[in-house]
Amino acid sequence: MPSNAPIGVFDSGLGGLSVLQAVRALLPHESLLYVADSRYAPYGERPDAFLEQRSLAIGRWVREHGAKAFVVACNTATAHGVAALRADGSWPVVGVEPGIKPAAAASRSGVIGVLATAATLRSARFADLLARHTAQGQRFLCQPGHGLVERIEAGDVDSSEVVALLDKYIAPMVAQGADTLVLGCTHYPFLIPAIERHFGTALTLIDTGAAIARQLQRRLEADDLLAPSRNDVDDVQGSTGSLQLFTTANANALQTMADRLLTNVPRVATVEIPETASAIDAPIAPQAAAGLV
Ligand code: DGL
Repeated sequence: MPSNAPIGVFDSGLGGLSVLQAVRALLPHESLLYVADSRYAPYGERPDAFLEQRSLAIGRWVREHGAKAFVVACNTATAHGVAALRADGSWPVVGVEPGIKPAAAASRSGVIGVLATAATLRSARFADLLARHTAQGQRFLCQPGHGLVERIEAGDVDSSEVVALLDKYIAPMVAQGADTLVLGCTHYPFLIPAIERHFGTALTLIDTGAAIARQLQRRLEADDLLAPSRNDVDDVQGSTGSLQLFTTANANALQTMADRLLTNVPRVATVEIPETASAIDAPIAPQAAAGLV
């Protein structure tokens, strides 16, 4: 795979743009191919097997579109799909996980809130992460952020409904002494202004976007896949990387959020990536339901 091939970045929807922003800032020469699987968002309420199969389907699609590496910019898809995506070991696959380790280091009170999707919080990977990084005397208060991803996908990051949900989920953590909050879903960094307005400086917020970009850089270096970054003005290949944006649903939401966050944003294209997902969400045929086939 040539080192100037794009890197696939994937999320259930707009959330991965928070990771893409960090990747673009650290690795401006890399070309990026972003896929928002908004047709199936929110992932956080979906079954484990669906999440694994959907991650594999999107991984295959970005590979067919020439990607040299894959960033699963979704905690939920990482929790349930990254092991399968890495199974053949044939390309660098970087996942994201809630920032439990940095939160454990940052907290002074020893009480840490974790806001993530229900599917992330119930996963074996998350249980293992907590077990590895909880120091003696520390407490993690884990709360599923039901309803938040739907609001963000609709472009709403600060309405009274969003603030009411944040208050419902975070105020009890603060009341129990939390001084640190892990944003365990890549959609949630878009809520940082609302959280800061509402809770002031009471909480240190932990977002892992920059750490993921650094991990991606290490993986590309190790595999000799970093894009050329020469400053030669005649060197077109060494200039700023390109950006392609795809969604499996209506393009407007991704376009609006990308235009708000990034520069030089191309038109978002809607694509179909049916594969395994079509088998999962297809209605059961009457014969099959009756046990006839
Ligand atoms: N952005 C995702 C995550 O990091 C998924 C949110 C969802 O679709 O529920 O978990």
